[in-house]
Amino acid sequence: MSKQKAGWGSRVGLILAMAGNAVGLGNFLRFPVQAIQNGGGAFMIPYLVCFLLLGIPFLFIEWSIGRFGGKTANHSTPFILHSLDKRKIWKYIGVFGIFTNLAVAAYYCYLESWTLSYVWHSIVGTFDGKTQSDIAAVFGDYVSLSTWEPIIFWIICLLLNTWILSKGLSGGVEKAAKIGMPLLLIFGAFLAYKAITIQAGSEGAIYDGLKGLNFLWTPQFDSIWEPKVWLAAAGQIFFTLSIGMGSIQCYASYVNKNEDIALNAMSAGWMNGFVEVVLGSAILIPIAVGYLGIDQVVEMTKNGGLGLGFKTLPYLFVQWGGLMGVFAGVAWFGLLFFAGITSSLAMGTPVMGFMEDEFDWKPKNAAWLFGGLVFILGLPTVLFFNEGVFDEFDYWAGTVSLVTFAFIEIILFAWVFGMDKGWAEITEGSDIKIPIIFRFIIKWITPFLLAWVFFASLPGVYDNLNHKESKEKINQLSHPNLLKAQLIKDSVALNGIDSSIINAKSLDSFTKISEATKLNIKKYQQTKMEWDRISSPKTDVKAEVEKIEKSILFKNWSRALLLLLWVIIAFFVYIAYKKRLKAGRL
Ligand code: PHE
Repeated sequence: MSKQKAGWGSRVGLILAMAGNAVGLGNFLRFPVQAIQNGGGAFMIPYLVCFLLLGIPFLFIEWSIGRFGGKTANHSTPFILHSLDKRKIWKYIGVFGIFTNLAVAAYYCYLESWTLSYVWHSIVGTFDGKTQSDIAAVFGDYVSLSTWEPIIFWIICLLLNTWILSKGLSGGVEKAAKIGMPLLLIFGAFLAYKAITIQAGSEGAIYDGLKGLNFLWTPQFDSIWEPKVWLAAAGQIFFTLSIGMGSIQCYASYVNKNEDIALNAMSAGWMNGFVEVVLGSAILIPIAVGYLGIDQVVEMTKNGGLGLGFKTLPYLFVQWGGLMGVFAGVAWFGLLFFAGITSSLAMGTPVMGFMEDEFDWKPKNAAWLFGGLVFILGLPTVLFFNEGVFDEFDYWAGTVSLVTFAFIEIILFAWVFGMDKGWAEITEGSDIKIPIIFRFIIKWITPFLLAWVFFASLPGVYDNLNHKESKEKINQLSHPNLLKAQLIKDSVALNGIDSSIINAKSLDSFTKISEATKLNIKKYQQTKMEWDRISSPKTDVKAEVEKIEKSILFKNWSRALLLLLWVIIAFFVYIAYKKRLKAGRL
């Protein structure tokens, strides 16, 4: 199968498509939330270090692996990795590079379809005159599927992806990126300007927009050595740059033999970085903090960023009033939509490349296969969103799988394939001179940093596998005395602190008490709230326990489905291998 495959139309198109691949919902919804949850300024240092020591090296690695595989007409990771080393195992490691894309697309496209629906609602004025809780309820009803609307928008979104993919790389993906990326930047610049110029006291804001930015960008060194913060930072770098997914390798496999990859990789990577740290931090957080204050925003992001993006922002936009409010809504959800679709297109290409290479499929049929698979795999995330299926997919595919694949990939590249050949691949045809230090970093620093991230995460993965948190909650609900004991313990820690402070709703204004004390107060408040709730006769403890048990069941089913998907892909890789063996193409 050495026939020349379709490729990229132009260099600008390639870079925009790669940037579009990276710039996604992760930049606008995931990044701000990770930053808030991990202490704002305390998060940024590990984040930037991970960008330099994990992100950039991996961009070099994945682009060069991709272009290398493309030289022998391989466009998906099973046989791209096989072209680096002939041992059998690598083909099956390469299964991850198809698996992750499909599994992420399964929930990602659903999320993408919400943004489309919210653009529509912003235009027709659904949110006008509603209170904040009404607007939050709109979202709750939406994901509970109280109407057919979510399903319709989801299918439209899948069809749109399929249609663009069926037009091929230069005719579809590249065009979408050329339209989507500039619009995204314009919308983003507008919203960022509006957000940073929010002034306390005007249009209902209680703080300046700058307060949110300061929270993020004032370096904090006290929690900088917490592994948890580093894990979150590394995870974010992987997700946002689409590293460890298999989609960069696939895009790069369509680059010409001697064409530059070093400068291309840097352009796309830094563009993503810019969009994330500048636009990603200048919209959601400043607006939310301006209207709600830091404490409430931190509280609201405990369960992810979707709440802020979909429940709160539309309400705040309405406060801006009239045309401005409508335009802000269209800009925000439109920006999310373009960010999302240019990423989901990238998730479609590996499976298409595989079917085209191994089974001679036409791009059009391969695109429909992707659409169909995402429909089947996505159905559980749509139908059982409230049961936690969506989050379960995100955890295994969008977090664990990436790191695992990347870890094995760098061992293959730097140690098995070897840095002599590896460095030659990275620098071949390069339009820039890459500092030689990166050769050292790729061999010695990145793998060990990643190994640390990988092994330090294992206990958490193990707990998750055993549903530790859910089981603890069930235990707590069934034995309320445990909570009471905790409450007494927490209150001892607060001995000597004024009760008016302990009962204050917001601790923002108490600048004199230390962060550690604030943390204790918050912990106490939470335990107390939980205790009040559980011991109130209104709470149906039995029903709650049943709900958690049900979600454990759904999580187990999700895992089984993902495992099945992996095994099926591996099976097809095996068939493809046998086919190649027969044709003498190995
Ligand atoms: N990088 C994308 C984001 O930030 C996510 C993505 C995952 C893109 C997998 C392509 C493949 O949202």
